[in-house]
Amino acid sequence: MTAQPISTVLITGGAGFIGSNFCHMLAELRPDWSIVNLDALTYAGNLENLTSLEGLGGYTFLQGDIRESSAVEKALDAAGDPATVGVVHMAAESHVDRSIEGGLPFVSTNVLGTQVLLDACRARGIGRFVHVSTDEVYGSLGAQGSFTEQTPLAPNSPYSASKAASDLLVRAAFQTHGFSACITRCSNNYGPYQFPEKLLPLIIANAREDKDLPIYGDGLQVRDWLFVRDHNEAILAVLEGGRPGEVYNIGGNNEMPNLHLVRLVLKELAKPESLITFVKDRPGHDRRYAIDASKIKAELGWQPRFTFEQALPLTIRWYLSQTQWMQRVRSGAYRDYYARQYGA
Ligand code: NAD
Ligand code: DAU
Repeated sequence: MTAQPISTVLITGGAGFIGSNFCHMLAELRPDWSIVNLDALTYAGNLENLTSLEGLGGYTFLQGDIRESSAVEKALDAAGDPATVGVVHMAAESHVDRSIEGGLPFVSTNVLGTQVLLDACRARGIGRFVHVSTDEVYGSLGAQGSFTEQTPLAPNSPYSASKAASDLLVRAAFQTHGFSACITRCSNNYGPYQFPEKLLPLIIANAREDKDLPIYGDGLQVRDWLFVRDHNEAILAVLEGGRPGEVYNIGGNNEMPNLHLVRLVLKELAKPESLITFVKDRPGHDRRYAIDASKIKAELGWQPRFTFEQALPLTIRWYLSQTQWMQRVRSGAYRDYYARQYGA
């Protein structure tokens, strides 16, 4: 397929945390591109993340499941000429604790759904496809070292195992069929619109209401935190310039133990550390992640633009100001939005 400029991005999972931030970023950075957002609206999909895009000429939302080829075909029809379409695949079951409760939805969406999407995109002749994966596919690190793109896959949770399986299917589509896909593997994101089952929005919401902050095990597990906008700029760089068949690690060089992060949030909110409550550890809990992002920096010129010192207070302020958003998410009221807005 000759590389024509991209004019439309088909995003899967665009109503979730990273996906909705990606849609907002595209509207800002690539205002002449169209966006087709295919999302099943599971509990994690929230159209209230995207209200400011509704009514924009170039934005189309389609409720649909990536496991159903008819839904994927409809989205590809809406996206138009495959030569000018880039696909960004974010739809997934994404929460480790839920995968410990039950792995099947993870295998179903993350593995089966990815294969359905790959087959449909390949049949259409889509020439640019970014599979958004995670550093968790590499497993857990000791005190030293960081994950490179050559680190063997060693996932420890049903979530990360299903993501690793999807990565291998994307690799196979490239190796077997020459399907032009890249894979990104990013560390923990933080920022607006994250579902409050994840650590950071959970502790902000709980601390604000003087509720206990559940910290798994000793709280010394280390994560590398990256602002969601930096992740999304990296994905855009891969979409526009990544080499087919390549994996790109993305990270913030910003490692810290969970307890440290929680203390920073408490300080910012002027709340007491006595809210910290140690609870039973997560089974199979990965001890430490750290990313070597030198490849994407050298090849595509990507750099994180936000320091943690800038973006953490910004993120906390966002959650504090969005009381209605948080209240509607926590009460489940956000799930009515689709029916009200789209009449379905
Ligand atoms: P999220 O859970 O907030 O959003 C997932 C979205 O996918 C939701 O809108 C949901 O409705 C949709 N979805 C789920 N199953 C679907 C299906 N069968 N068909 C269509 N849509 C479906 O997830 P997130 O945190 O925004 O993560 C997005 C992607 O980035 C995931 O693939 C995840 O593995 C990856 N990732 C996340 C992080 C992170 O820190 N959150 C870091 C690295 C990579
Ligand atoms: O590394 C990238 C991954 O980051 C993504 O692939 C996942 O989709 C995303 O959910 C995230 O996974 P984590 O398991 O690291 O994120 P979570 O917010 O669930 O937990 C962050 C850390 O905080 C982890 O060590 C577990 C701990 N934790 C989490 C919760 C929800 C607690 O101590 N208490 C909690 O209540």
